[in-house]
Amino acid sequence: MNPTDYEYLRKLLKDHSGLDLSADKQYLIESRLLPLSRKCGVSGIGELVQKMRGGSSLIIAQVVEAMTTNETFFFRDKVPFEHFRDTIMPEMLKARAGRRSIRIWCAAGSTGQEPYSLAMSLKEMDAVLAGWRVEIIATDLSTEVLEKSKSGIYSQFEVQRGLPIQLLVKYFKQNGELWQINPELRAMVQHRQLNLLHDFSQLGVFDIIFCRNVLIYFDQDTKINIFGRLAKAMEGDGFLVLGAAETVVGLTDVFKPFPDRRGLYRPNGARAASPQAAMSMPKIAAMAGR
Ligand SMILES: C[S@@+](CC[C@H](N)C(=O)[O-])C[C@H]1O[C@@H](n2cnc3c(N)ncnc32)[C@H](O)[C@@H]1O
Repeated sequence: MNPTDYEYLRKLLKDHSGLDLSADKQYLIESRLLPLSRKCGVSGIGELVQKMRGGSSLIIAQVVEAMTTNETFFFRDKVPFEHFRDTIMPEMLKARAGRRSIRIWCAAGSTGQEPYSLAMSLKEMDAVLAGWRVEIIATDLSTEVLEKSKSGIYSQFEVQRGLPIQLLVKYFKQNGELWQINPELRAMVQHRQLNLLHDFSQLGVFDIIFCRNVLIYFDQDTKINIFGRLAKAMEGDGFLVLGAAETVVGLTDVFKPFPDRRGLYRPNGARAASPQAAMSMPKIAAMAGR
């Protein structure tokens, strides 16, 4: 790949998805875009770039998607889901006893293993949640991963990664080589395409935000900007959960670490929780004219 094309792609990816590639990541671009060039029937990355320069928004979108890292698995890193069960939910059950509703946002949900891990965790505490309304909204930049997430269909390999066997048996149905999560669990998760670089205030205000293993790909200014907007999208006593290699420390003070709970953060301001559940997805859909 020639250096001019590489610089063009670096800038385009930064602008469109936040992906911050260092000067030496040609191999990564090649390994992801050569298969795409073949799929698009062009001779190589040079021709792909030519089409992008010519303004092909379809090719641009495909390139941006191809460059996202969608790695995920059920109950990834385990500890955040223990925090969810043992710290976040008990606090929320107390704090939201008045309105009996909780809004959860999975901000880069990829192929669904993370939002469905949360749905299963909630199902496991069904008894204490009787009469509560809990929303899980899974968003991602990539429409391809969202389609898979919506289908709730996983391979044998995928269900063997992180998913306890008793939860597999309880919540999935086998169909040949594939497993599909049951309709009740699927209905607990709403999906929406969303780029974290863009305004997300229309989603409303959340009690819990999982934003894991995505900010790691962004530069400092982008992370600071997103943290600022995440804080505004969260109740004053809400919880933010980040990935194992991510932190707010040294970047911003809009969130503060929760003591003794790695990866868990709370807003630093003293905004009281709103008396009613914030805007729900049906209202958002209505606003969007759908
Ligand atoms: C490595 S996966 C993490 C999935 C899950 N959160 C986890 O921790 O297992 C990162 C996800 O972030 C998405 N992503 C990348 N850039 C994004 C952006 N600018 N806005 C929203 N999602 C983005 C990718 O499409 C991908 O599905």
